[in-house]
Formats: sequence, structure tokens, C-alpha cells
Amino acid sequence: MATKLAPQLLRSSFQPLRLASRSQCRSFNASARSSSDALQVHRDTPVNNAKIPFKFNDQNNKLIDEILKRYPPQYKKAAVMPILDLGQRQHGFTSLSVMNEVARILEMPPMRVYEVATFYTMYNRSPVGKYHLQVCTTTPCQLGGCGSDKIVKAIEDHLGIKPGHTTKDDLFTFVEVECLGACVNAPMVQINDDFYEDLTPESTVALLDSLAESAKAGGTSHEVGTGHLTGEDKNVKSGKEVGTAKSKVGVPKPVPAPGPMSGRKTCENSAGLTNLTSPMWGPEVFRKDL
Ligand code: FES
Repeated sequence: MATKLAPQLLRSSFQPLRLASRSQCRSFNASARSSSDALQVHRDTPVNNAKIPFKFNDQNNKLIDEILKRYPPQYKKAAVMPILDLGQRQHGFTSLSVMNEVARILEMPPMRVYEVATFYTMYNRSPVGKYHLQVCTTTPCQLGGCGSDKIVKAIEDHLGIKPGHTTKDDLFTFVEVECLGACVNAPMVQINDDFYEDLTPESTVALLDSLAESAKAGGTSHEVGTGHLTGEDKNVKSGKEVGTAKSKVGVPKPVPAPGPMSGRKTCENSAGLTNLTSPMWGPEVFRKDL
């Protein structure tokens, strides 16, 4: 009998000991608070909270009416993406107030708008600089030309910022992105709405300098993060007098036109024409009766 009870007695004698050694406090876990445009959550900030009023201007209200005509009235929520884009271009970024206003116009739950805006990285949910640099670092751009690693390093060294950061003067925001569909002209960067391709570290630095100079020349208005170069910026690019950037020695220095920085046209073969070199055939080659 004693042998049978021994294990049970042994267990019960250790029980108080086990309870005493067990910690009576449980750890409290909370998700880390961090600020990143990749975050799917919203954190109130002084420039981004629901108390900041936002209304579309007259010009954009007309555009919204045009966009809504594309959809049956009962499906007007299908216009959420173009209208969010309009909001971003007007306000500078897709703030909470912009999303709420879009939800009000489209008569949809705000959460449905938040879901769209947090899914697509093209919606900037925090302010960006006047020039939004999106450097493609996907494999073709890493391997093409000098490679995107060198472009990233050139930007980091020249602007003194890391990906995800904005310069102190709010001029440049720099992010790394996935393929932008210009792989054949790798490496490339999208600046606001424009593609600059066939980059080298030197041409990248020259491009950044000319953009900075054009902004400081006073010919450009500071529309932070509109996604578009302003009308005056475009004059700079076309080399017109208004808004033309001046270099330190006073010589106008236009911002390069978008496209390949290597001088080639679009994505033509850098080795020149290698096929289709003979004259085009006409129907007479096969139709002797003609
Ligand atoms: S990989 Fe860079 S544009 Fe496609």
C-alpha cells in the first residue's frame, strides 16, 4: 500500500514548491510603436489626424464629377482609387482627412477606403518631399547597367538620408521600390511622375543637383508631394526662361528631360540596329502579277 501511495505523496509534497517558484506576474505585450510609410496602421500626428479639415477644390470637384460618370451610380465606390489619387495630389499626401472625405463622397464606410489606401504603396500616408525619389531595386535593376546598389549609395551619400527618409529641407524623399516596368533601361528612378533611366552614380547626382537648384532658383513653387512636377518645373525641363535653374556661376542649368540618361531613345538597342536592316518588302515580292 505504502508503495502505491508513494508517487502521489511525492507529487503533493512538491506542489507548494512549484507554485512558489512560479512567477505571479504575466508579461504585457504591445506591438512596437514605429513610424513608417509601410505601416498599415494610422498614428495621429500633428499633420495627420481627423481634426484637420479637407475639402476638394473646385477644379478637383469637376474632375470627380467626370470620374463618377464612368460608373453606374450604385457602384460609385469603384472610383475610390482615382479620387484618392486626386486627394493625394491636392493635399500632398493621403491623410486621414483625405480618406474620410473620399469615403463621404463615395458613400462608403471609411474602413473600406483605409483598406485601399493601406494596400497600395502609391498612396503616401505621410508627407513626402517636393521630389519623391523611388529607386527600383528589383533584380533586373540590380543587375542592369551599373546596378541599382550604386544608385542607392549615390543618393544616400549625396543627400545624407537613408531609404524612407526626407531631407531636412523637405526637398527629397527617398524610398526603394519594386519593379516599375522599365527594366530594359535599368537602373532607373521614378521622380514624382517621371522616369529617369540608364542611370549612373554621376548622372544621378547631377540630376539631384539640378532639381535642387531648380527649386532654389525661385522659379518653382513648393507643392510638396503633388506627384507632378509643377508647370514651372516643366518650363525648367524645357529650358524656357521662366523657372530655369541657374548654376552657381549663373549659367542656366535645365533639369534633364525624363527618359534614358544615356542619350539613347526610349529602349533602343545600345549596339545600334542589328536586325530589320534591309528595305521593307512590299507585296510585289510575292505578287508577280501586280
Ligand atoms: S526591375 Fe527595375 S524597373 Fe523593372
